[in-house]
Amino acid sequence: MILPDYKEAKKRGKEKVIREDYELDNEFKQIGKGKTYFVKTYGCQMNEHDSENIKAMLEEIGFTEVDDYEKADLVLLNTCSIRENAHNKAFGMLGRLKHLKDEKKNLIIGVCGCMAQEEGVVDEILHKHKYVNFVFGTHNLHRLPYLINENLKTNKQAIEVYSKEGNLIEGMPVKRQNNYKAYVNIIYGCDKFCTYCIVPYTRGKQRSRSKEDILKEVEELVKDGYQEVTLLGQNVNAYGKDFDYPYSMENLLEDVAKTNIPRVRFMTSHPWDFTDKMIEVIAKYPNIMPSIHLPVQSGSSRILKLMGRRYTKESYLELFHKIKDTIPNVAISTDIIVGFPGETEEDFEETLSLAEECKYDNAFTFIYSPRENTPAAKLEDNVTLEEKEDRLHRLNAVVNKYFLENNEKLVGKTVKVLVEGVNTNGKDGMYGYTDTMKLINFDGCSNLTGKIINVKVTSAKTWSLDGEIDE
Ligand code: 5AD
Ligand code: SF4
Repeated sequence: MILPDYKEAKKRGKEKVIREDYELDNEFKQIGKGKTYFVKTYGCQMNEHDSENIKAMLEEIGFTEVDDYEKADLVLLNTCSIRENAHNKAFGMLGRLKHLKDEKKNLIIGVCGCMAQEEGVVDEILHKHKYVNFVFGTHNLHRLPYLINENLKTNKQAIEVYSKEGNLIEGMPVKRQNNYKAYVNIIYGCDKFCTYCIVPYTRGKQRSRSKEDILKEVEELVKDGYQEVTLLGQNVNAYGKDFDYPYSMENLLEDVAKTNIPRVRFMTSHPWDFTDKMIEVIAKYPNIMPSIHLPVQSGSSRILKLMGRRYTKESYLELFHKIKDTIPNVAISTDIIVGFPGETEEDFEETLSLAEECKYDNAFTFIYSPRENTPAAKLEDNVTLEEKEDRLHRLNAVVNKYFLENNEKLVGKTVKVLVEGVNTNGKDGMYGYTDTMKLINFDGCSNLTGKIINVKVTSAKTWSLDGEIDE
């Protein structure tokens, strides 16, 4: 049994990242034969992509996927720690699985992802959720076959969570969610330590994948007809900072663009590491999408300092406008937290004024949620829930106004759309995303799925557009 340890998780050693190829032990190849699985994923794209690796590993050892957890022989929860409600959802699901297991004694239950990296969570599973068969963390996905095997053989709860990162595993199998757009990890972990954020503890220190491994993966995707890659990392702009030779995000973006994959996206960018060269490269290559997620978190320089964000309202706005002025038709989205400890009405009004100035194309707004072991959790949380909810409401009213206003500007224009499939809004038709990441619904047939087509925008709503195919 290896349990998570916060002290270890916090350390940032100088040791070099060692690359290791994934290997599956022959003895595990049949352990899931005849059994079914269901993976429930919470949280961000990073977790979604981890689940694509997890599913492929389960299939390599004989399991087959089912779409209903009640029908599965193995249920795995890939969890998220970012806010308390993500926690509560996962524990709620565990409760349902416990009941299911009362009826289905052989049900195998696993927990992985960011919550598995938390000392408190694993302690709770160990003592109160003994029916959970195995737990593994974000640093040892590749150990999944081994852990299932151990649990099946010994019938004891198998817990293996590394607090230090371990080697960088390449060549893990992947079962991609669709065959026209793909996630590609470029950097793992985060060294920013924003005071409210649990990610530097759950995802470890910053480690970049090699340029060669990334480009090989993208080139294979191009060969397989993929239309879009999203380069993933907690902070993609820090890509390459851990190399002992000069190769950074702007170089990688350029090399990925040169593979001629029709669409390149990347997320998430910390404003601190956004360089002028990156902006130039994005502006230069038409296949790098003019869509940038640039989390601001707060519009008050005082709160930004308490958050450990390393920029002020003014320096953020300078970067924001540089991006807007250099990249034609760029759409910028953001994340904003309200109710950080000590946030006054004046601080919040600074956030509102920033939102008014930036007129974001999209914004994800959250109420601050104290996370175990983070520096901000030690600050007095002196904003009442009522105030937090009121601020969220007022902020949403401002950002929503601009989503609609920006969408309305597109009416009458023809946009390029990657068609994703048949829409689920009750009407017949298709949906897809524009280059600026806007959802658009239009009439068309399902054989357009996976193609990039021209669509003329006919009307705008707050969160989507309607359009018609423009031949
Ligand atoms: N409370 C509320 N929101 C948070 N985020 C990260 N940590 C917290 C927290 N403790 C938000 C940030 C981040 C997004 C992924 O989640 O806005 O950019
Ligand atoms: Fe959630 Fe952050 Fe972990 Fe993603 S990295 S799953 S957002 S805690």
